[in-house]
Amino acid sequence: MNTREMFKRAVAGGYAIPAFNFNTMEQMQAIVQAAVETKSPVIMQVSKGARNYANAQILRYMAEGAVAYAKELGCEHPEIVLHLDHGDSFELCKDCIDMGFSSVMIDGSHLPYEENIALAKKVVDYAHQFDVTVEAELGVLAGVEDEVSAAESHYTKPEEVIDFSTRTGCDSLAISIGTSHGAHKFTPAQCTLVNGVLVPPPLAFDILHEIEKKLPGFPIVLHGSSSVPMEEVETINKFGGHLEAAIGIPEEQLREASKSAVCKINIDSDSRLAMTAAVRKHLAEHPGDFDPRQYLKPARENMKKMYIHKIVNVLGSDGKLAQC
Ligand code: G3H
Ligand code: 13P
Ligand code: ZN
Repeated sequence: MNTREMFKRAVAGGYAIPAFNFNTMEQMQAIVQAAVETKSPVIMQVSKGARNYANAQILRYMAEGAVAYAKELGCEHPEIVLHLDHGDSFELCKDCIDMGFSSVMIDGSHLPYEENIALAKKVVDYAHQFDVTVEAELGVLAGVEDEVSAAESHYTKPEEVIDFSTRTGCDSLAISIGTSHGAHKFTPAQCTLVNGVLVPPPLAFDILHEIEKKLPGFPIVLHGSSSVPMEEVETINKFGGHLEAAIGIPEEQLREASKSAVCKINIDSDSRLAMTAAVRKHLAEHPGDFDPRQYLKPARENMKKMYIHKIVNVLGSDGKLAQC
């Protein structure tokens, strides 16, 4: 399904839909298991990097498999969106639409304003012919990912959002209010030490509220929303890893954002951390194991636990399927 009805209900209901990235079968299985057990709608998203890693056809059929798997797990009416994350060209978006994706993001946020509008509109005009919904982005997030990089952030300007959403016709808008991609969202120098914990500066809720006032009820998306759980970082470091100063977005802030017009929250790094922590721990404790199933099983379980926690305790999308 596309995101239209899903977002309408999420905005009205004061919760957010989880958008989890997947590159591997274990991530896909964990996402589906978590969504079914919590009766949550879910967006499974695929980046350009994921397509390069796993192959576009394989990911597309894995998403079809995800729907069948959810039904097999007992969910008669699963709500699963297959979404392109950070599409960087019309051609990539078109390829995904032609392949059966139900939603795409065109990320022209790094382009000059008028070029961002022109590119997003071109994707919207094509996508809407097939009832595929489109997410566009205004404002630039800081952070570095394989295929997504921006050295510094530029918050979304509320005075531009009406013009941008009207002229592009986009179905949802990703905004920049202080989140960023990856596991190193803030430097320790940017944080305050509270009871031994580094607390980052708060998100720009004033900008979010201004945007909400300009676009009442319009679906807003937050990228870069991993919280980088300290216990996963500690497990990784305890068992041979070396992650320094990994700091994410505090979950209370995401909980607060979920109650607003923010109706899609993107989480990828937390899944990477959960997987890596479990694999490192297992291999360190079982040095003789070499069957990937032995260490990928606890990795899958750890990711599932994390996805359930996000759904139930942070985004509030549990029990929100239209029909069970
Ligand atoms: O926002 C980007 C996502 O975390 C995807 O990252 O491009 O490394 O697959 P990726
Ligand atoms: P994180 O790196 O914070 O998980 O953000 C993921 C994301 O925004 C995917 O588009
Ligand atoms: Zn993103």
